[in-house]
Amino acid sequence: MYLTNEEELMLKGRQGAVVGKCMKLLVRLGEIYGADKMINISSSQASGVSYKSIGDPGLEFLNGFADEGAKVRVPTFLNPAGMDLENWKELGISETFAKKQMEIISAFRKMNVVTTCSCTPYLFGNLPGFGEHLAWSESSAVSFANSVIGARTNREGGPSALAAGITGRTANYGLHLEENRKPDFLINLSVDLKTSSDFGALGYFIGKIVKNKIPFFEGIKECNTDNLKFLGAAMAASGAVALYHVKDKTPEAKNYESIANTLEKIEYSAEDLKKSYEELTDSSEPDLIVIGCPHASISEIELLAEKLKNKKLEKEFWVCTSKSIKTWADRMGYTKIINDAGAKIVCDTCMVVSPLEETDYKCIGTNSGKAAKYIPGFCKKKVFFGDLNTLIEKGLGK
Ligand code: F3S
Repeated sequence: MYLTNEEELMLKGRQGAVVGKCMKLLVRLGEIYGADKMINISSSQASGVSYKSIGDPGLEFLNGFADEGAKVRVPTFLNPAGMDLENWKELGISETFAKKQMEIISAFRKMNVVTTCSCTPYLFGNLPGFGEHLAWSESSAVSFANSVIGARTNREGGPSALAAGITGRTANYGLHLEENRKPDFLINLSVDLKTSSDFGALGYFIGKIVKNKIPFFEGIKECNTDNLKFLGAAMAASGAVALYHVKDKTPEAKNYESIANTLEKIEYSAEDLKKSYEELTDSSEPDLIVIGCPHASISEIELLAEKLKNKKLEKEFWVCTSKSIKTWADRMGYTKIINDAGAKIVCDTCMVVSPLEETDYKCIGTNSGKAAKYIPGFCKKKVFFGDLNTLIEKGLGK
């Protein structure tokens, strides 16, 4: 594997022991995957932030890095943490958990990592350009960056994303290479998708079949970036899809139109859509409703505020988003409308990475295919999967 002079020095620890360790990890990964060289990245996004996911060993590792003086050299953003960093008490988080979580955040801060704690950094300040190389690790963010933006990133683990942030490099393999971005399956839709939950249901169904391969969708007539966010997140959860193409909608799809008909074909019908909803639901009585997986955009919050105006919810209702988007919602008056209806905007965390299993809720209502897939395993709760209107009806006790 070719290394520049500077990279050789980094590997030898001449820019500090911690840079040496990071370079060693990245070079080893490059060797395993047959990379020819290292490449510069424009940003990194690190997962492994919630104390629930990384526990004391993870905290110790991060503290060690921070104490050794590790600093990121490209913009590096964080995945959701295990709690709202400011309003954690309201969510029933214990003092012990909160203390550990804040130690994790401060270790990242010492390394100059931007402590945004969101899986949608592309919505507020970390928007890569087409073709830019990245080292992102949250699976829905990876899918969005590759597919909707046309940037290039592998599905990094927490440590490799952090190492990439600290060195500003990643190894040149996988989805960084043009030849690995070709689709493997043609997905032909004969049903019109109407809501983001429909896109999540489709993603859940297709991810299970294609696993870590690349699907090419035909027959999606209308979609916006929120819909695609739901599609990619669900495919990355039920499978390990890191890149997909949608005819006439995503930037690289046109490169593959001519080969689409030569690919193995999967049909997706109205019957399959119905089946996907049924498979993701195991109870019809949610006592907590959570939307914002992936983290809600300002448009989703605006829509929710419109729907909740002058209403009173009977059930607990949370919207997960980033602190940045929440600030915009505050300014626009959406937060007030949502709070007046009895719902909460929860920042920095989500229903999967927060310690929901320690609460008394029995069934979580969600419109996210990814959350519906993960909640039973990660949070030990039942799931009701439905579209936003149905969730609001349930929340109103109808
Ligand atoms: Fe984001 Fe949590 Fe969903 S990290 S994609 S909101 S499971």
